[in-house]
Amino acid sequence: GWKMEDVMDEEIKVINNMVGPDDHVICALSGGVDSTVAATLVHKAIGDRLHCVFVDNGLLRYKERERVMETFERDLHLPVTCVDVTEQFLSKLKGVVDPELKRKIIGKEFICNNLGKKPVFFVQGTLYPDVIESCPPPGTGRTHSHTIKSHHNVGGLPKDMKLKLIEPLKLLFKDEVLQLGRILTVPYSFLKRHPFPGPGLAVRVLGDVTEDNALDTLRQVDEIFIQLIKDAGIYDSIWQAFAVFLPVKSVGVQGDQRTHSHVVALRAVTKGLITRSYGSHDWLYLKQFKLEILGRRLLVFYSIDSNMYYFEREFLDDVVQKICNNVRGVNRVALDITSKPPSTIEWE
Ligand code: XMP
Repeated sequence: GWKMEDVMDEEIKVINNMVGPDDHVICALSGGVDSTVAATLVHKAIGDRLHCVFVDNGLLRYKERERVMETFERDLHLPVTCVDVTEQFLSKLKGVVDPELKRKIIGKEFICNNLGKKPVFFVQGTLYPDVIESCPPPGTGRTHSHTIKSHHNVGGLPKDMKLKLIEPLKLLFKDEVLQLGRILTVPYSFLKRHPFPGPGLAVRVLGDVTEDNALDTLRQVDEIFIQLIKDAGIYDSIWQAFAVFLPVKSVGVQGDQRTHSHVVALRAVTKGLITRSYGSHDWLYLKQFKLEILGRRLLVFYSIDSNMYYFEREFLDDVVQKICNNVRGVNRVALDITSKPPSTIEWE
C-alpha cells in the first residue's frame, strides 16, 4: 500500500523540482476539499510564491464566502485573494433557462476569470478518477457526446493556455485526499463537508437564476435545512443534502392571508451504493473502485446509485415550520423521494 506521508514528501519534491525559485504559481480555490488540499500541499512546498484566488460568482451558499475565507486564512494560512464577480456572472445567466447552457456559460466564465495573470504555473485539484473520467475507456465507443451533464471542473482549460499545470492529487482517490488533508491539518469539519457542484446554486434554481429573488430565497431555505440536519446530529450520515428553488408558485394560507408564493424542494441522499457494472449507464455515472494488488492499482468500473435519506417525521415537521415561518416568499415545501437512477442527485 501507499503511505500518505511518503506520498506527501514525494509530491513536495516533485513540485520543488518543477517550480523554479523565481516562479509564481496560481491556484483557484473553489471551497471544496480537493482544491484546498492541493493548495495546502503546494503552499507547504513553495510558500508564498503560491497565490490563491477564491472567486465569488454569486452562486454560493449562505455565508459560504465568509466561511471558507476564514478557513483559508485563519486555519490554513493560505495567501488568498477573494474576487467578487457576481454581477458579471449573473448578467451572463440572465434569461437563460436551459440547464446545459447554464453549465456551459458558468464553465466559460470560470476559466476566463482565473487566468490572465502572469504566473507560470496553475494548480488544479484533479483526482485520479477525474483523469480516467475525462477519457472514456478504449473499446466502449463512448464519447463526451453521451454525457448527461457537463461537469465544468473536469478538463475545460483552453488549449492555448500558457500556464503549466500542477496536479499534485492526480494519482489519488478521494479517500486518500482526505487522509492527506488530515496530515496537512485541514480542519476535520471542512474535510467532512457534503460535496457541492461546481456550477453552484445555478443548478439548484430551476430556470432563470436571476428571477424572483431566487438565489437569496434558496440560500435561506438551504441554510435552515442544513443547520437543522447538523443540530440533529445526522449530517455525517447523509451524503448530500440541499434545497432546490422551483420557478413555480402555489396558493397557501399564512396567518389570515391567502398567499401565492414559491415552492421549494428538499433533497437528501445517502452515500452511493455500488450496484452494477457498466453497460446500461452513461459514462459519467461510472465510478472507479480501487483495487491494489502487489502495489499496482487496478480499476474496476461500477455505477453508483443513491437512495433518498429517510428523515424522522418530527425532523421534517420542524424543517417545514421553520422554513415557512422564516423565509419570505415560500409557502410550500416538497420532499424529493426519488432515487438515482432514475433521477440524478442535482435537479439540473
Ligand atoms: P448528479 O446530479 O450528476 O451528481 O447525480 C453527482 C454528483 O456530482 C455533483 N455534480 C457536480 N460537481 N461540477 C461538480 O463539481 C458539476 O458540474 C456537477 N454536477 C453535479 C453532484 O452535486 C453530486 O455530488
